[in-house]
Amino acid sequence: MENIASKQKPKHIKKLDNSVINRIAAGEIIHRPSNALKELLENSLDANASQIQVLAKDGGMKLLQIIDNGHGINREDLPLLCERFTTSKIQAYEDLEKISTYGFRGEALASISHVAHLSVITKTSDSSCAYKAKYIDGALSAGGSSEDSEPKPCAGNDGTQIIVENLFYNIPYRKQALKKTNEEYSRILDVVGKYAIHNAGVAMSCRKIGPKTIGNDVQTSKESSKPEIIRQIYGRSIADSLEKFEKDLSESVLATRFDGYASNGIFSCKKTTLLLFINNRLVENSSIRSSVEQLYSSTFPKSPKPFVYLSISIRPEYVDVNVHPTKKEVHFLNQDQIIIEVVNAIQQVLMHSNNSQVLTVQNPGRTVLSFIDSDITTDINKESPKKEFSSLSKSMDSKKNDAIYYSPRKVHESKLVRMDSKNFSLKSFIFDAGSGKPSQNGDPYRKRETFGSPLGFRSTNQKKFVEDNNSNSTNSFDTDKDSLSPVTTSKKMIESPTPSHSNLSSFYTKLMGSTANDNASIDMVNTLNSDSGDFISSDDYRKISNMLTKSNTTTETVSVVDSATDPTSLKNKKSEEFEVSEKKRPRVEVKLSSILELRNEWAEIAHNQFTKILHDHIFVGIVDTTRALVQHGTSLYMVDFEQVSEALFYQLALTEFCNFGRIELNPSPKLYDLVLLALGKEIEYDGLIRSKVKDTGYFQNEDFDPIPEEIVSSPDGVALAIVELIVSRREMLLEYYNFSVTEDGLLESIPMMLREYVPNMTKLPLFLLRIGSEVNWEDEKIFFKEFSSELAYFYATEPPTEIQDETLAENGDNTISLKMRIRSQPENTGLESSESDAMKQFYHAVEYRLFPALKAGFNAPASLVASNSVHLIANLPDLYKIFERC
Ligand SMILES: Nc1ncnc2c1ncn2[C@@H]1O[C@H](COP(=O)(O)OP(=O)(O)OP(=O)(O)O)[C@@H](O)[C@H]1O
Ligand SMILES: [Mg+2]
Repeated sequence: MENIASKQKPKHIKKLDNSVINRIAAGEIIHRPSNALKELLENSLDANASQIQVLAKDGGMKLLQIIDNGHGINREDLPLLCERFTTSKIQAYEDLEKISTYGFRGEALASISHVAHLSVITKTSDSSCAYKAKYIDGALSAGGSSEDSEPKPCAGNDGTQIIVENLFYNIPYRKQALKKTNEEYSRILDVVGKYAIHNAGVAMSCRKIGPKTIGNDVQTSKESSKPEIIRQIYGRSIADSLEKFEKDLSESVLATRFDGYASNGIFSCKKTTLLLFINNRLVENSSIRSSVEQLYSSTFPKSPKPFVYLSISIRPEYVDVNVHPTKKEVHFLNQDQIIIEVVNAIQQVLMHSNNSQVLTVQNPGRTVLSFIDSDITTDINKESPKKEFSSLSKSMDSKKNDAIYYSPRKVHESKLVRMDSKNFSLKSFIFDAGSGKPSQNGDPYRKRETFGSPLGFRSTNQKKFVEDNNSNSTNSFDTDKDSLSPVTTSKKMIESPTPSHSNLSSFYTKLMGSTANDNASIDMVNTLNSDSGDFISSDDYRKISNMLTKSNTTTETVSVVDSATDPTSLKNKKSEEFEVSEKKRPRVEVKLSSILELRNEWAEIAHNQFTKILHDHIFVGIVDTTRALVQHGTSLYMVDFEQVSEALFYQLALTEFCNFGRIELNPSPKLYDLVLLALGKEIEYDGLIRSKVKDTGYFQNEDFDPIPEEIVSSPDGVALAIVELIVSRREMLLEYYNFSVTEDGLLESIPMMLREYVPNMTKLPLFLLRIGSEVNWEDEKIFFKEFSSELAYFYATEPPTEIQDETLAENGDNTISLKMRIRSQPENTGLESSESDAMKQFYHAVEYRLFPALKAGFNAPASLVASNSVHLIANLPDLYKIFERC
């Protein structure tokens, strides 16, 4: 079939007639009367008018008149007034960067003159009379009369009067489309009303000209305040529901200030009303609108449609005003962060609103993150533009705001409101371990990678990566540990669980059989205080405090963990059966620069607020095996003490360096057996540990005859190498850590990091294996850092395991029937009382050893906050609200 189109001749391209170009361009800028009015209003405001009157006939289609008392227009500028791209407001494009006027294009009057008949009467203060001029299509016109088109002198006041008649007389289809004059007039009123609110101090009026109209529809005086104008324009119920909010971040990277009024939870419009002014421009912004709507729907059960007046001032250089023909949009830097700040500020006033009768927090994460945010504000005030934000604006990056943090605030009785307690439950504050778990980046005390195997070693999948790294530098593996970056590039690794000690239960079993006496076992229960339930004495607090703060003497506490006790007899064991001795000795002053540097580094990353909370807290109770509640001021917080304890022990490893007490193991187990136990659990042992052991510096050590490399390639050999390494450094370990190892490889004692606190000994084999394979023993500072980190991991709280019968084949000849403890369901045990004793001991240690220590000089690192180790659960003012009407 023949293609007809291909036979047609193309039309020639021709330049459009100027009048057509201008009319098309004008049609883009002036859609309807209210657009024209907006332009005219802005011109009056740019002319610093303090009084503006608007008159409209037939919805502004027939007549739109605006009279202002601004500075007027010079007589000689009148011929240019309506020519396109003529303006008095900018001279160069760069001026846009600091634009402070509404106008800058020189297009508004020109556009109007291309779609309507435009007349101007203007008088400057230095002129003896006013001048009147008429315009059509951008040029002066005689307006159909035979006179010339020159401006004519006339009587008039200072200021400018612009009369727009017969709008769209030359665009009939648009005129046709805008026939509903009432609707057009209400749009005019809407524009006038919004500008009147924003420009309180400028008296504005708007009136419709018609046979039955009486008086002004809008009439504000110079003295009217914004709430009064809102009341006049939007009605009393809205005005009565308003809460004021404001925030000044002008000194921050956001360079922003904002203020406004937001309706409370009682009031609801038919639809959201957002009066948004950015740098005084009335604009639209869908992100702000939806964030505000989301805030109301997540805060109030009925998801009311809010009324919000919001004025944002941003440094002009950060705003691009030239993005829309009608200037109804602007682009600005840091939009997400600014929106977060705005939403937070509104949320803050809503939470404290005395009119919100049904105020609920439907998303508990918000308050938690809000708390976290409070520090980010400090960051904003400094430099960091990257922020985190709460779940209420999931779509955004988040950020913090100290306005959101519930610092104890006095709330007047009149502010008490009712809340729906059904929406609260403690459980709702417990975050999924998965989502809430910390990123290990940046935690100096967490250098462990997250590997797939129970002990936390790399699986074979990751091995290649490690080898690749090692091929470049023998030390690369060690340096990886602090930053995780090369390792965590493996997605699999990121997803792998952290080493779980619950998987190590069999170590315990084996450990019990690995002591010098084959039939003995270690009693690892936290032995030293069986009188659980007693409150810690003030004396204890003092002693702990002494441990954490510098003093001239140190109390060397020695406790003995009896490793020859059958675990089943624990319940009968009395505290006096454990030896605890104390002797005073002068406190060793540490001068090692590496330790001093590490201490300084630790102090630098402290999170002031969380540190203060822990320092001044009152212990409330334990929630589960990793969380407890503490009170600070009028706020209740949930603290993940497992994570916090790890940080505490890292700090103690630095601050108590050279001054530790010791926990004696009696009889002393063989290091070799312990390491071998740990190795035996390493599922994917594949020669990797050998290379790690190599990296620790074992083969460079000249203090002893190294074991031939071939032997080290077996688990036995690795264990031997690790023992040799530890034994070779035993003097240093003893001096610095009270970590005592005999020459023939028996572990006599481990440091007592916190008085009367014994770590969960199931972690001991892993600890030994890790210090032998993961720690760099060659570089002094790195060693102290990594060793401290391993100590922290070892000593961090770990609930006791349960005792269960199990027969395990021991490596080598012996088959030993042992009890093992598994952190599992009580119904498996039949030993509930024993379990409850162990758990009591555990909770006791948490409450009376750990938490008091947190009050005594612990610097909580910011990473703990970032990893959700603390959640704000409630604060008293809000609880008052709940109980007020009960
Ligand atoms: N009410 C007024 N009082 C004093 N001068 C005015 C008034 N209206 C307009 N002008 C003058 O006329 C010029 C042109 O106005 P017009 O609105 O067309 O352009 P603009 O305001 O400069 O830029 P834009 O097109 O972005 O609004 C202005 O620059 C200003 O000097
Ligand atoms: Mg203008």
